[in-house]
Amino acid sequence: MQTVRFDAKETGKQTGIQFNEKTKEFHIQGKDFSYIFTILKNNQLGHLYYGKRVHHSPSFSHLFTSEPKATASCVFEGDIAFSLDLIKQEYPSYGTTDYREPAYQLFQENGSRITHFEYKSHRIYPGKPALEGLPAVYTETEDEAETLEITLIDMLLQAEIILLYSVYKDLNVLARSARVVNHGSQKLNLTRVMSANVDFFDSDYDMVQLSGAWARERHMVTRSLVPGIQSISSTRGTSSTQQNPFFALKRKKTDEHKGEVFGFSLVYSGNFLAQVEVDQYGVARGSIGINPFDFNWLLEGGESFQTPEAVLVYSDQGLNGLSQTYHQLYRTRLAKGRWRDQARPVLLNNWEATYFDFDEEKILTIAREARELGIELFVLDDGWFGNRDNDKTSLGDWVADHKKLPNGIGGLARKINDLGLRFGLWFEPEMVSKASSLYEEHPDWIIHVPGRQASHGRNQFVLDYSRKEVVDYIYEMMAAVLREAPVSYVKWDMNRYMTEIGSPALAAARQREIPHRYILGVYQLYDRLTKEFPEVLFESCASGGARFDPGMLYYAPQAWTSDDTDAVERLRIQYGTSLVYPLSSMGAHVSAVPNHQVKRHTSLETRGNTAYFGMLGYELDVTKMTDDEKQLVKEQISFYKKNRELIQNGTFYRLISPFEGAGNATAWIVVSHDRKEALAGYFQVLAEPNPGYSRLLLIGLAEDIQYRVDGLDGTFYGSVLMNAGIHFKGEFSGIEAEGIEYGGDFSSRIFKLEAVKEPAR
Ligand code: DGJ
Repeated sequence: MQTVRFDAKETGKQTGIQFNEKTKEFHIQGKDFSYIFTILKNNQLGHLYYGKRVHHSPSFSHLFTSEPKATASCVFEGDIAFSLDLIKQEYPSYGTTDYREPAYQLFQENGSRITHFEYKSHRIYPGKPALEGLPAVYTETEDEAETLEITLIDMLLQAEIILLYSVYKDLNVLARSARVVNHGSQKLNLTRVMSANVDFFDSDYDMVQLSGAWARERHMVTRSLVPGIQSISSTRGTSSTQQNPFFALKRKKTDEHKGEVFGFSLVYSGNFLAQVEVDQYGVARGSIGINPFDFNWLLEGGESFQTPEAVLVYSDQGLNGLSQTYHQLYRTRLAKGRWRDQARPVLLNNWEATYFDFDEEKILTIAREARELGIELFVLDDGWFGNRDNDKTSLGDWVADHKKLPNGIGGLARKINDLGLRFGLWFEPEMVSKASSLYEEHPDWIIHVPGRQASHGRNQFVLDYSRKEVVDYIYEMMAAVLREAPVSYVKWDMNRYMTEIGSPALAAARQREIPHRYILGVYQLYDRLTKEFPEVLFESCASGGARFDPGMLYYAPQAWTSDDTDAVERLRIQYGTSLVYPLSSMGAHVSAVPNHQVKRHTSLETRGNTAYFGMLGYELDVTKMTDDEKQLVKEQISFYKKNRELIQNGTFYRLISPFEGAGNATAWIVVSHDRKEALAGYFQVLAEPNPGYSRLLLIGLAEDIQYRVDGLDGTFYGSVLMNAGIHFKGEFSGIEAEGIEYGGDFSSRIFKLEAVKEPAR
């Protein structure tokens, strides 16, 4: 028996990967989960178990189930029980007795799609490998994780599939991916290659997904599994606002705080497919990977293809448990670079303050005022380059418009620095306007099909990042700006989806590779820029949150969550986003009222209270605020700075969901790791006339610590706050009583908790 094991820091439990030579079983033991599979008698891999951690045992063969069925197609003559349709598969193939959708498909020179990939060998080693050209979760020291690498071979094709499984010692994470290598001489076409597949024992689950649209991104949607295929996907060239590359399967009774749930998250920013197929026997096949729709990858002899990484998370502590694992992993072992752990600056972005209408003086006036309020970083958004006075022109010409900025970006940035502010700059590096020097010189650099019309989106065209020379060109332009000017932050925007996908630079047989090659080009540009400018904080953006995914988070530790800054809409957007993504990744800004997206009026207080639960910024013309408003903003920024370590790194719990019931209330809390500090937010959309009693039950506190709660008299044990709660006394009713005017519509409360007394020992 080959055994490599290590102790988990927190639990003292042993986690790791074991292979039982005798039974040919692999047992991956995570902190709280077990994942077991075996080599079947036809030498393919069969799945046995994924769920709560179980003891390692001499044999798990009793978990193999395949009953003889009269109607099944069978692998071996005389053996009517061995049908792959009846057996749970580990990485299912197409065409040999399993009729469900496979994990991969290879189209061969003779037209065949039939393969037989069987177990060849495996390795178990400490640590976790990087994936070439792709973002992936990582370890800082080898003892943080352990990896199993299984090689499957198809002898006829001389091709291999290498399956990677990495388990983290202290987190309930299983990171998976697959690599296909063509060692043979014939050309293979990979028409489907998923990153991970799990055949669950049953289908008594709800599928949870994050769906939406521009300005209402990542709303939580839950549906029951039914027989057949249920899926979400993107065909737009980015992960998209419509669907996020994530789904979870939760037991029916699982809620935010308790119960079992399995998460699938794809570290990828392009077209993806996430699906669950429920078969005739109620087995649920969950899989996630690059969208096979309109995908094909030609593998010539000697070439290989690496899939993106799927991050599977197990929780028996409800959806909050699932989220907290994703948060910790993505905050500390996906995001990287200097800004990963550094306190993020409170920023002011001029987009909604000026749109395209600014010049250096106007910018400096806003910046001066911003400095007075405590802002630390000034971000110059769209409109600083070429002749960009509207959205019809100049993308691709990353040279300052000297009519607006006579001293260039360098001159402005230095003036901003002299005010005591850092300077940040907006780019949209993947796009070009027809009215631009770049397009004039290289009209063939856009994604298009010669002879066909090229559709635009916001008057712009997508640069063909599958071409190295395009990526190199944009790199040089951006790097020139960043070398010349003291830029501390880059907002990397991407404002349209792909259409008429084609590249004259690629052979006909490779045209369906373009969306993936494009994303690899984007990753490469990010990689080069983040390496050359490690001190720059990158924030990703795509019309708001159209590419809010783990792939982007690898390079840019924060993302613009949504163009919708309305405090009420933000409750749902931020609540849903937090299912997978940490607060440290969510850009959250206070903007002007009436709100520019929905025209709603909410108080500055509620706008601030909502934006506190993210990386805070302001996106309004501070010179137009009243003195009272400025005073409040000053207080908000100072409050945020005092609490940002807690917000950026604390443990986040969702308390009341805007997606349940009438959705009128939302609440959440972030608790420090030592549980001596916490910040809770309670938000109400509409005031109720003559309401009944309501209270807020907190979570995550230490039962025996006494806390002082800002705004409440006295001190309270954690046990009291968690079980009896904070009782409201009309604060949200909109009435006036005893001289106090209460909240009304769109009101909110923030509760800051601080330990006043150590627990008695
Ligand atoms: C879309 C982004 O989401 C906005 O924040 C802003 O940067 C605009 N693009 C600028 O064109």
